[in-house]
Amino acid sequence: MNITVIGTGYVGLVSGTCFSEMGNRVTCVDVDKIKIDNLNKGIIPIFEPRLEDMVKKNVSKQNLFFSTNFDAAIKNADIAMIAVGTPMGEDGSADLQHVLNVASEIGKSINNPILVVNKSTVPVGTADKVRETIQNELDLRGMAVEFDVVSNPEFLKEGDAINDFMKPDRVVIGSDSDSAFKKMKELYSPFFRTHDRFITMDVRSAEMTKYAANAMLATKISFMNEIANICEKVGADVNNVRIGIGSDSRIGYSFIYPGVGYGGSCFPKDLKALQKIAVENDYNAQLIKSVDEVNNRQKLAIVKKIVNAFGEDLSDKVFALWGLAFKPGTDDMREAPSIYTIKELLKRGARIKAYDPKAMDECKNFYFKNESSIEYGNSKYEVLKGSDALILLTEWKEFRSPDFEEIKTQLNQPIIFDGRNQYIAYDIESKGLEYHRIGK
Ligand code: UDX
Repeated sequence: MNITVIGTGYVGLVSGTCFSEMGNRVTCVDVDKIKIDNLNKGIIPIFEPRLEDMVKKNVSKQNLFFSTNFDAAIKNADIAMIAVGTPMGEDGSADLQHVLNVASEIGKSINNPILVVNKSTVPVGTADKVRETIQNELDLRGMAVEFDVVSNPEFLKEGDAINDFMKPDRVVIGSDSDSAFKKMKELYSPFFRTHDRFITMDVRSAEMTKYAANAMLATKISFMNEIANICEKVGADVNNVRIGIGSDSRIGYSFIYPGVGYGGSCFPKDLKALQKIAVENDYNAQLIKSVDEVNNRQKLAIVKKIVNAFGEDLSDKVFALWGLAFKPGTDDMREAPSIYTIKELLKRGARIKAYDPKAMDECKNFYFKNESSIEYGNSKYEVLKGSDALILLTEWKEFRSPDFEEIKTQLNQPIIFDGRNQYIAYDIESKGLEYHRIGK
């Protein structure tokens, strides 16, 4: 198939690349010329395991193209996939201007039948707006072109995006057209090796499915963080409780790890948007609101423990920080707990020595530009020297089994604040280190 993917962010670039891997002819378009020029030179704007190799391979096979020429790319396409951003607007709702601009450009360009697939996360009812926008443009041109708009939300996780896309748990398609379902099934059938995981439904339910999935996962995390906080008060250990409840197959072990809260580009934004959708429809989404509030509080869980141990004034303190990315496997720091933790520590006069395998450039060039109180190290051990305690915020594999003797020797005071409960199994106290973690 001839596919044009509009938007080369996480979702667009990964989807386009994976469709090209299956032998389709894919053109990824973006308004950002520098990004497109870079992609044509093999420079990938994000860190995502396996993505760079897959892009280069399919570009050289002439399955994958990058262009700023929207008009040409749309005219030749069987499928136009919208994967532009829906950032949080000032009032918390998803900002649809990019999606609707693309819809209007599609209406201005198409001469042949096309299937428009919406992959961006959008409020319920957006597919109808996309359809209207395209139709208005066609009417202005006096053209009659057949087109369908389907909703196809994307569930990939950063850091494991290629894997998620190539072996999806499910593909959700919302449409009212049998021919659209048929075409989408053809597009996705190469990804189903053993089971047919194709789920069809009406458009609005598909749009809602994406918000409901993210809200459910976020709810599990906030619930567990709340239980962790209660455990601390009553002398229980959340890690035992986690194992105790996860063994119930109705609950399960996934997404019940307590920590310093969820971050990233999806959960925080989608939960705000869902609250907004509810308010606009005269419904008070109390649970969703609380999930968000618990998370905001949890992002400061480690700061609270540090202040308990060292007091409010941290002006003579230096902290070694392991992990800046919102989770392992990515250089993404959007809504990362590290941002909030660092801000609070700096506010109290502390200095930070940070190390992250991938996100240090993002931190120093964007989030904490010209911040002289943060230094960056070349290795996890380098940042320990002269620091008063170690804080772990992202559970990168390279932090999971460190040399505790080295940590003890290098730190001024042998104290670890573990925001991801990584060292529970190590009996750290017996190694002469003071150990603070979540939920105990
Ligand atoms: C999420 C959804 O998983 C994905 O399906 C959707 O398409 C986009 O949003 P992502 O944001 O990449 O993906 O990250 P995810 O792996 O889901 O983790 C989100 C956050 O939750 C991270 O900050 C992570 O550290 C945190 N988390 C996750 C916990 O704190 N505890 C857990 O048990 C699991």
